[in-house]
Amino acid sequence: MTAPVSPTPAVDRSQVLIFDTTMRDGEQSPGASMSHAEKLELAKILEEMGVDIIEAGFPIASNGDFEAVRAIAQIVTRSTVCGLARASVADIERCAEAVRPAARGRIHTFISTSPSHRDHILRMSPEDVLEAITKSVTHARNLIGDVEWSAQDATRTEQEFLRRAVEAAIRAGAKTINIPDTVGYTYPDEYAAIFRDLIEAVPGADTVVFSTHCHNDLGLAVANSLAGVQGGARQVECAINGLGERAGNAALEEVVMALRVRGDRLPYKTGIETQHITKASRYVSAITGFPVQYNKAIVGKNAFAHESGIHQDGMLKDRGTYEIMTPEAVGQGATNLVMGKHSGRHAFREKLSALGYELGDNALNDAFRRFKELADKKKHVFDEDIVALVDDGISQEAGRIVVSRLRVIAGTDGPQTAELTLVVDGVEKSAKATGDGPVDAVFNAIHEIVPHQAILRLFQVHAVTEGTDAQAQVSVRLEEDERISTGQSADTDTLTASAKAYVTALNNLFARREKAAPGQVVASGF
Ligand code: KIV
Ligand code: ZN
Repeated sequence: MTAPVSPTPAVDRSQVLIFDTTMRDGEQSPGASMSHAEKLELAKILEEMGVDIIEAGFPIASNGDFEAVRAIAQIVTRSTVCGLARASVADIERCAEAVRPAARGRIHTFISTSPSHRDHILRMSPEDVLEAITKSVTHARNLIGDVEWSAQDATRTEQEFLRRAVEAAIRAGAKTINIPDTVGYTYPDEYAAIFRDLIEAVPGADTVVFSTHCHNDLGLAVANSLAGVQGGARQVECAINGLGERAGNAALEEVVMALRVRGDRLPYKTGIETQHITKASRYVSAITGFPVQYNKAIVGKNAFAHESGIHQDGMLKDRGTYEIMTPEAVGQGATNLVMGKHSGRHAFREKLSALGYELGDNALNDAFRRFKELADKKKHVFDEDIVALVDDGISQEAGRIVVSRLRVIAGTDGPQTAELTLVVDGVEKSAKATGDGPVDAVFNAIHEIVPHQAILRLFQVHAVTEGTDAQAQVSVRLEEDERISTGQSADTDTLTASAKAYVTALNNLFARREKAAPGQVVASGF
């Protein structure tokens, strides 16, 4: 069978391709699960930002992953949509099916190459691994033109064997060769040398794109990725906010800005429109419930804050004294106090557009209605409030359960009591419950109306802005049968936000169950 024509563009050595794995490796971090709707929204954000390749999931891992990759493949037209597959026929075929609707689809197949993984995980000889590479890449290439191959644990692999493995993958038709530092073990100079050696020694190396994929166990993921580029890699695999297994992957925003700010050291362009970075970071933080540390490079709240008098003085004289890039370059505009209860729909739409949101008519009407409600409760509506409000709308979409009314009695003279009404599958249901504190009382009331076995793994509150009338952004993480589900909500009332976040997490959990075993959830209630 001849392979379909490859949609991969010819290799441009002056460009570093940005491969985002927030939805695959990122979602593998414990607790960082995203709902179907959230993944679709994130894919739109990544595409708009100019990400070259979106790794949307691991299709064989679950029906939910398969559906997400497939749905993203249907809506994304500019970025390549990629799915992950082990070196097995079933994995590769499932992946091919998921990415088939994509304008540009890619199968990313991998196998371990290091002695440790060969002996303890695969129990395969080096020769068996080489054979598996040839078979898997050939099979993938017969299904799609764009195939990436990864050598899992490459940085702990004997260099001589790595050369042979890479050669086998290139011969079988891989277009991209990824050299992951799976366990975050390598050093920058060592990693650069691996690429130089492969590019020099392996026949056909000049016809493919080499890629970095670095984990952050020693805090070196970004430095190693940049060293990989110095060694000849022209694709960097990374994730928003550095999300990923264990200590995470290289942070997309740091890699991109390091390339942009220090073009004198690494003269390569990326296709990223950097002003979208902050929005992507906030969105990923909101949907995963993983806060961004205040002093995080590029996207931290303090990344552009100048507190000391000497610094402030310098900044007033010339921003370049203490700023190597502007906050505007990454979409961190100053917080503006321009919206209030008298702002009209047109101004609201303009504001959303400035914040990077283009909503359809229905979503805009809904967001505008909720903005008006917020402006009635809160004197000043900041940009962060609007971002929280819109993101909230996306994550609350179309669940079986809706919070209708909540009244809580709290204070020093317990018991704290919650009276709650939910609409469950269109039917109003109420309960009154007490608890060890008002949040506990609210969650107990939810339990009474919607009995379930899920365990609360995370309850987190943070203020969206300053001031006592600030919105509280609440994240809830639930676990059931090793399935993690998160929910977020923002409201000026912390308890209302808590109830909505919990209900969203439940909705996401039920949606996942329904995908895993269609029909059974409805038939058996909760
Ligand atoms: O870290 C790793 O090796 C991976 C591969 C599956 C690419 O994530
Ligand atoms: Zn990884």
